[in-house]
Amino acid sequence: MDDLNTRMDKAPRSDALVFFGASGDLAYKKIFPALLAMVRQDGFDLPIIGVSHSGWNDAQLVARARDSVAQDAKSQKKKVDEVAFRKLAKQLKYVNGDYNDPQTYVALKKALGTSKRPLHYLAIPPDFFGKVAKGLQAAGCTDNARVVVEKPFGRDLKSARELNRILHEVFPERAIFRIDHYLGKEPVQNLLYYRFANSFLEPVWNRNYIASVQITMAEDFGVEDRGSFYDGVGAIRDVIQNHLLQIVSFLAMDAPVGHDATSLRAEKLRLFRAMRPIDPKDVVRGQYAGYRSIKGVDKKSDVETFAALCLHIDTWRWSGVPFYIRAGKKLPVSATEVFVDMKTPPLAIFDEIEPPQSNYFRFRVSPEVVIAEGARVKIPGDAMTGEPVELIARHHQRPEKSPYERLLGDAIRGDGSLFSDDETVEAAWAVVDNALNHEAPVETYRPGTWGPKNAANVVDNEGWHDPVNETSAPD
Ligand code: BG6
Repeated sequence: MDDLNTRMDKAPRSDALVFFGASGDLAYKKIFPALLAMVRQDGFDLPIIGVSHSGWNDAQLVARARDSVAQDAKSQKKKVDEVAFRKLAKQLKYVNGDYNDPQTYVALKKALGTSKRPLHYLAIPPDFFGKVAKGLQAAGCTDNARVVVEKPFGRDLKSARELNRILHEVFPERAIFRIDHYLGKEPVQNLLYYRFANSFLEPVWNRNYIASVQITMAEDFGVEDRGSFYDGVGAIRDVIQNHLLQIVSFLAMDAPVGHDATSLRAEKLRLFRAMRPIDPKDVVRGQYAGYRSIKGVDKKSDVETFAALCLHIDTWRWSGVPFYIRAGKKLPVSATEVFVDMKTPPLAIFDEIEPPQSNYFRFRVSPEVVIAEGARVKIPGDAMTGEPVELIARHHQRPEKSPYERLLGDAIRGDGSLFSDDETVEAAWAVVDNALNHEAPVETYRPGTWGPKNAANVVDNEGWHDPVNETSAPD
């Protein structure tokens, strides 16, 4: 068992990294930059084999990696570390092949050479997981191997169960790493830390003091070149079933009874099981105007690019406290934020408390890292009138380590603390499963707005707290 603090290495390290989906969007945006950072910072020197059916060779894989890291460096106004990139380029190899063709896995086995404990990362749609797992097994690539599978893990509860069954035929549960990159985000871990490393929160962290919780994941960009993937998924499967429910679990779980990862998972699982299956009537789905003309998207698509819903947790701690969740593309800003709204004082002894939600906790998960508390203080002068202020506990621009860098490193060391297990992932599907059976069609919204009009009806009178672009932030 991995200790939550030190997460010490106990299992043998993997000795090669294979990633399927080497020519895909995820590899381009996240995996190559994470690999470069691992080479630069952690001395990562294992052979890396990219697999895809693009008909590339080694040089083309390296060119794609180069393009990816240059793009990533540009977005951070940095330069590519050329020394580290040269090392990474030497580690990269390419295997071409169709995932349905047994020869692909034979070629992979050959490319793995003397590797005895490969880590296979399936950065591909879930429909292929079973096929690839079986292909790997038939070619003898699964002995002492680990597998990392991307989200979404299935399409619904039924398919997730089936996927677990198929994967278990090939890999033992301890060798399966279901990735959700939100679990590798520094501010998401800080949610857990902040809650359980401070004593002042626990007495108020319940239905007696908390009026409601809001979680917004807003993105100001659209689906762009991911049309064909996204149109088979939609916002609920893409980010709510996984990223946002994981945030809820860290916010709402009870303290783990031990210091190990198993105790943490046990508490999270209890919490997931206490979440009431979402009623489709509590869900508003939207689609931004123009979505249907994106390449790969059905011209009559009813897939949501926005969803707002209300979640209930049936425990003594949370009964009656609504958890409002919304996620959408092409909204006014890119920001993920949690807003925990505390109840107002029982009587207004001084001035009218305005705005009423002046006591709150705000956790900004992205792009900046912010933990803030809202309070009221008296305005200097004769009158007993006040104003809202925000106390900042933590504010910095960007987490140091990217989630993929952290999680890939963990998987290579065999540390599963920040990955989901079979039961948790199924419990999370059980929460959203009903919400996938919507009857009402999506409502169209204008890009650059906060989603369809009816999203306002999901929350109580106070309305949604729209995250704003943070101005300056000390680092
Ligand atoms: C991915 C989703 O899992 O998370 C994307 O598939 C989404 O649609 C992305 O844009 C957001 O991740 P991050 O780390 O940029 O907030």
